[in-house]
Amino acid sequence: MSELARRLLAWYRQNGRTLPWRGHPDPYAVWVSEIMLQQTRVETVIPYFERWMMRFPDVADLAAAAEQDVLNLWEGLGYYSRARNLHRAAQIVVEKYGCELPRDVKSLRGLPGIGRYTAGAIASMAFGLDEPTLDGNIRRVFARLFDVREALGTTAAERTLWDLAAENLPIGQAGDYNQALMDLGAAVCTSRNPDCGHCPLNDLCQAYALGVQEARPVRKAKRTVPHYVQAAAVVRRDGRVLLARRPSKGLLGGMWEFPNGRVDGDPAQGLGQALETGYGLRVRVMGPLGIVRHAYTHFRVTVHAFRCEPVRISKNGSLRWVGIDALEDYPMGKVDRQIARGLHDG
Ligand code: ADE
Repeated sequence: MSELARRLLAWYRQNGRTLPWRGHPDPYAVWVSEIMLQQTRVETVIPYFERWMMRFPDVADLAAAAEQDVLNLWEGLGYYSRARNLHRAAQIVVEKYGCELPRDVKSLRGLPGIGRYTAGAIASMAFGLDEPTLDGNIRRVFARLFDVREALGTTAAERTLWDLAAENLPIGQAGDYNQALMDLGAAVCTSRNPDCGHCPLNDLCQAYALGVQEARPVRKAKRTVPHYVQAAAVVRRDGRVLLARRPSKGLLGGMWEFPNGRVDGDPAQGLGQALETGYGLRVRVMGPLGIVRHAYTHFRVTVHAFRCEPVRISKNGSLRWVGIDALEDYPMGKVDRQIARGLHDG
């Protein structure tokens, strides 16, 4: 076993976190946790994971669920295509694999939502296979240990990092090795102010020897994220409010929102036209309800919400009148949930 792996595993036995999916006997639990953990912090995931396992204890329960219930349980975790893919993948596991998650990387990667990273994580942690994996934390750890100079996200850096992860893998202990790297990245080898003094690998670390740990991994220049202004309509009638369902693919796919559109200039003025174009919906804009800001991965929005009265409601399949008390049953993104919660108070 490499010196690196030996020290890392010793550190993990002392310092590894106790997490609800670790040592879980059920590969389904490992799978669910790994999907939730994509781009999301461990502390955020834990309560979602526990609720999920209560509600959908096995893959057959998940496969049989309605998409709306699945999205509801995911609400607040973001990147909702993960939930839709997990749901679809569960149906495939039931139909094609007799409710058992396949035990090899190639078949795992054939399932929606499982890429190279997640396949390696599941194979090593749930099945004990000798497979490496790379998430953001592991990429950072290896970029520092071996002073990788290629910019993160380039083909060259990916090849180097996957090779390093595989070369140092201790046979028979890949699950612990992968999770030890994740924990070291989360607790010690952090992106800013890494705690090199307490790192079990500091004398093996090339970036530390050169004093360049804060400059690794090398990042590509950031593109500036665009900012959009939107206006949203809270159209109320007889204790109900008008919601629109988003198309099932793409950003917030299948989730519900207040009818809205992008506006230039005065949001109150732009709203009427945006709703007419987007939904064939005609409203009278009454007064402002509030402003909500949110940052998505690739853009930021400022949403101006207005109380509106209906003038003409078209036969638009995506629109639905929903009782104010039933709003929590409709999965929404953060912006719309904030607007919806405001309605109970006002
Ligand atoms: N991030 C992704 N998977 C993880 C795991 N199994 N443990 C800790 N952090 C993780």
